[in-house]
Amino acid sequence: MELAAQGRPVDEVIADLTAKRADDVKWADGKTFGMVYDGGPSVHEVAEQAARLYLHENALNTQAFPSLAAIQREVVGWTGALLNDAELSGGPAAGFLTSGGTESILCGVLAARERAAIERGVTEPEIVLSESAHAAFHKAAHNFGLKVHKTPVRDDFTADVDAMAAVINSNTALVVASAPQYPQGVQDDVPAIAALAASVDANCHVDACMGGFVLPFAERLGRTVQPWDFRVDGVTTISADIHKLGYAPKGVSVILHRTKESRKYQTFVFGDWIGGFYASPNMQGTRSGLPMACAWAVMQHLGIDGYVELTRQTLENADKMRAGIAAIDGVRVLGDGDLHLVAMASDPAAERQIDMFALGDALMKYGWYHDRQTPPDNLHSTVSNTNTGVIDDYLADLATCVDEVSGTTTDDRSTTYATLE
Ligand SMILES: Cc1ncc(COP(=O)(O)O)c(C=O)c1O
Repeated sequence: MELAAQGRPVDEVIADLTAKRADDVKWADGKTFGMVYDGGPSVHEVAEQAARLYLHENALNTQAFPSLAAIQREVVGWTGALLNDAELSGGPAAGFLTSGGTESILCGVLAARERAAIERGVTEPEIVLSESAHAAFHKAAHNFGLKVHKTPVRDDFTADVDAMAAVINSNTALVVASAPQYPQGVQDDVPAIAALAASVDANCHVDACMGGFVLPFAERLGRTVQPWDFRVDGVTTISADIHKLGYAPKGVSVILHRTKESRKYQTFVFGDWIGGFYASPNMQGTRSGLPMACAWAVMQHLGIDGYVELTRQTLENADKMRAGIAAIDGVRVLGDGDLHLVAMASDPAAERQIDMFALGDALMKYGWYHDRQTPPDNLHSTVSNTNTGVIDDYLADLATCVDEVSGTTTDDRSTTYATLE
């Protein structure tokens, strides 16, 4: 594995790189339910042009790149307004751009730990979360030394707030709510969880990595949206991913704090070395300007109306998918979610029982890609505008595949969500 001594011409390199992609999922054909979110040709166009402009820029030092300071300020400000920070007495909310949902969550957990230590003297911080909370919270707890209390979900897959109340205590630094959670796409009772956190003066982080760029527009579409944002008392931080349903290319999310005062708990400021004053807002050092600029450009290009339209399409796709699954004997949707995440499992009430992972393999042969989860074994879809125009074909292939795999099983029980290689 040695890099060749001699460099190669541009076209050859790019041809090789293009060839490497042969086995990657073909997300552009709409048959992948997750990972890539496609806002359409003009969204690609504006992102590609922004990416070219900011390919090399570095947000490590915004004195050198004041445009990136402005980009961050504006994108964070627009997102805060979408999350109704105007209704805050001490508002507006304050935040930073990060590289993605996981980094926003790392920042939220670190800030909670720091606030608990500094304001309440907590030396053995704890985090209370439901088993549906994203794995990133466990990663954060592991990295930052918080003890995790993981509580079960209710039958409807929402966090069991009574179970959370039973483990909350004076060491609790953070209580987590999801809007919505990833596995079944249902939203937790955010007001109840936020009140619980407030009862011990802990932070409440709302993980809206998935919902942050859906719920505000679902509300504008007149859909029923349960309270989840800064209008809820006790919510202290929110993560919202622009690189998911915000339709920007990968590498950008927002972490928002209810006040600028509490934002300081996630930052790192250091002067005690011989390299100069060092202040860092998140987990990174050098920070690519590219995803930040793409987020700015995509948000400007879409505007509220563009997002409302993409959300209308997305939710119609998901509604159609749920209805279609319900009409196929042998499979069912888990939970009562009405957003853009759909988990499909075998239906215990049906005459034929389906091995969901065999079904996943069969669907893959028709080009459809789902993540797998358990328990119970189910196939997960993050539906978006990417899937517009293909849901009828999907449901037809699904019905065929359910027939095909009925009575068969697979030994492959793997449920890969993320990998190390
Ligand atoms: C609810 C939720 N939170 C957090 C994350 C983590 O986001 P990322 O993969 O961008 O780090 C995800 C990813 O799907 C998610 O669905």
